[in-house]
Amino acid sequence: MKTLLLLYLCAYVAWAQSDLEYDDYGDAAKPATVDARGHRPLSRGRETYSYNRHAAPPPISGGNRYRGRPTPAPTGRQVQEKVEQPEAGGCTHASEEMGVLCPTGCELKTALQKQERSVKTSINNLKPQVDELTRSTNDIHDYVSRMSVSVRERQRVIGDNSRVVSQYTDQVEEQHAYIKETVDTVFPSNIRILTGVLDKIKLKIQKLEKAIQSQRELCKEPCTTKCPIPVVSGKDCEDIFRRGGKASQMYMIKPDSFYPAYKIYCDQTTKNGGWLLIQSRLDGSVDFGRRWDEYRRGFGNIAFDVGKGHCETPGEYWLGNDRISQVTKMGPTEVLIEMEDWSGAKVFAQYQQFTIQTEASNYVLAVDGYSGNAGNGFLLGSMELFGENRTMTIHNGMMFSTYDRDNDNWTPGDPSKQCAREDGGGWWYNRCHSTNPNGRYYIGGSYTSHMAKHGTDDGVVWMNWKGSWYSLKTISMKIRPYFNPASK
Ligand SMILES: *[C@@H]1O[C@H](CO)[C@@H](O)[C@H](O)[C@H]1NC(C)=O
Repeated sequence: MKTLLLLYLCAYVAWAQSDLEYDDYGDAAKPATVDARGHRPLSRGRETYSYNRHAAPPPISGGNRYRGRPTPAPTGRQVQEKVEQPEAGGCTHASEEMGVLCPTGCELKTALQKQERSVKTSINNLKPQVDELTRSTNDIHDYVSRMSVSVRERQRVIGDNSRVVSQYTDQVEEQHAYIKETVDTVFPSNIRILTGVLDKIKLKIQKLEKAIQSQRELCKEPCTTKCPIPVVSGKDCEDIFRRGGKASQMYMIKPDSFYPAYKIYCDQTTKNGGWLLIQSRLDGSVDFGRRWDEYRRGFGNIAFDVGKGHCETPGEYWLGNDRISQVTKMGPTEVLIEMEDWSGAKVFAQYQQFTIQTEASNYVLAVDGYSGNAGNGFLLGSMELFGENRTMTIHNGMMFSTYDRDNDNWTPGDPSKQCAREDGGGWWYNRCHSTNPNGRYYIGGSYTSHMAKHGTDDGVVWMNWKGSWYSLKTISMKIRPYFNPASK
């Protein structure tokens, strides 16, 4: 009976531990795998791979959209126009055009992390107690069985010398009673203590579940916040910069008179400013494992007001393939991809030409003119790989793929071979990637194939900088009309 109870306890502890796996990388997070992934090697036999570029048009080049920046730039007094918008649930704002969004999840993240730490400690404390208990149970059971043998032995001897033996038997029975008492009292009290600990853990799990539930409730409602829209607006962030919008923050742009204006984040400080943020990862608060339609329209949070009266802190978002295509097709466009690891080191990759075709051609990517220190994955693929394996990881000329729309180069038509399904996000997958900025967000950086949903390197990966098994802390993509700075 007691053994059964103990088994139940152990099983419960095991269950409690498996239930708490949220980011529980504590011991498992050894960067065991350092090998290059990204590609899907050909299976031995007849399989072939061809690097078909879908007859992708080259990126738009030249430099005639804008002349060099006029000096001095106009500096008007910037008036901030407050537009009050409904507030719901303390969530932060997303552009209405960008659709309905959830809160950052920061609250949830903090709550979970706080709870998780104490639960983990309780479980760790519990383990030696359970071990100790198992040991003492075994000891006592051994002792009892030895005693039983001994009792039988005495009873045999009774026949020979009943007087002496009865005295002896008394002793044995005394001992037997003592052990019985130990088993009946000390044991249950140990179990009571353990049960108490387990009850506490149960309570904590319930609290966690409640926190998750309440966040879910919050996410049901569209979230809005007050984001004053600056009076300066323009065709794009370069235009806004030239009109005096020199602060990095949220703005409205209207690249084309046929389409309504929409909100975006402009980086007006990095590398002379004028950058329109089209992609941003910085805390894992937005899920990037999304459908084709969502990647087409865009999703995420444009910017936040952290108390300065304007929205100068960017959120995590994807601008939307239609908008990215439209803006990059207006003229020569450059792209700046900046990234940071979990120790604060930063690198970048820049392409002087960056054009995304329309949905009719599945948003084919074309880049050229690389510079930077992050590595040229778009044009050259992963430098850790060789031959065909490397060619498979080039992104230039690829169509966009999402888990519900397979346009990659990995055995087209085979639904079990879809890069976007395995690698976590929408991207210009080949077979499959050397860069995966829209992949899954792993807190802390290093992860292993065991943590990945499909065993593939599905993190926020830039292979030529940190390899397959490191997920970046931040990465962003910004575009700007390309112009020759010297032209006047
Ligand atoms: C390609 O990768 C596979 C396994 O990842 C390896 O066996 C093969 O030798 C590689 N080919 C080249 C040319 O490196």
